[in-house]
Amino acid sequence: MNRPIRKAVFPVGGLGTRFLPATKAMPKEMLPVVDKPLIQYAVEEARAAGIEEFIFVTGRGKQAIEDHFDRSYELEDVLRERDKRDLLDAINSWMPKAGQVSYTRQMEPLGLGHAVRCAKPLVGDEPFAVLLADDLILAPRACLAQMVDAYNKVGGNIIAAMDVPREHTKRYGIISPGKDNAQLVEVKGLVEKPKPEEAPSTTAVIGRYILQPSVFRHLDYVQRGAGGEIQLTDAMARMIGEVPFHGLRFKGERYDCGDKVGFLHANIAFALAREDMQKDVAAIVREVHKQL
Ligand code: G1P
Repeated sequence: MNRPIRKAVFPVGGLGTRFLPATKAMPKEMLPVVDKPLIQYAVEEARAAGIEEFIFVTGRGKQAIEDHFDRSYELEDVLRERDKRDLLDAINSWMPKAGQVSYTRQMEPLGLGHAVRCAKPLVGDEPFAVLLADDLILAPRACLAQMVDAYNKVGGNIIAAMDVPREHTKRYGIISPGKDNAQLVEVKGLVEKPKPEEAPSTTAVIGRYILQPSVFRHLDYVQRGAGGEIQLTDAMARMIGEVPFHGLRFKGERYDCGDKVGFLHANIAFALAREDMQKDVAAIVREVHKQL
């Protein structure tokens, strides 16, 4: 029996320099896609996968995230007075219950591996999930829920995987594949951001992970890797052979919201997926297309 995945870690300490000036005083995770901040999509995805505890690894200037997952009594009062029931529901329906959320700070920007390591005392000795809010996934079934389904069958570590053009390998962790049934691919090796000519495949890691707690032990030993940062990919690479390890080619569309064009793409795609906006937005897209 595989131990259940109850906790999720959200590394949100990054500076968001690619979105300046928007992110000068606002966390990049609060950028909205249509009308919802990126971080809320990630939290809702985790909840849909059965997660009960939400652990944020934050940094300076990230107060807005804590406020977002807290009650706002003034706002609730005003909405109640104005009888705006639907808006009241919208701000409270996804609110975490008392004690379900915790925050810790990554005091130095030493990379994703370091951020995850900061969560060790809060995660303890149990398998857990990691979600990167930059990777937004539009899917019929939440991506992390698909991964939990796979985990319940094969256990060990599961990472979200997607095939990318070879010229993009330097943006991602890349999998060296073993057995591959098109959906589940065995992870035989992992390398962070390889040059296209050196990449062992074009199957990339997307920002969703289910990890065994032994990853923390490895994170203590990995040296600074790609970009001078402590890489989660390098710690995971040390776990190959130690635990079952698979990539899941999830069903759904992934948008890279760490990138301006990807972020705009996500906004259009999510608006088109919404019944209340579909018609108007489709008309605008057609109109813009005519002008090209
Ligand atoms: C991180 C990971 C990388 C992964 C990517 C997915 O990189 O280090 O392995 O492929 O997320 O988005 P980052 O985009 O933070 O540079």
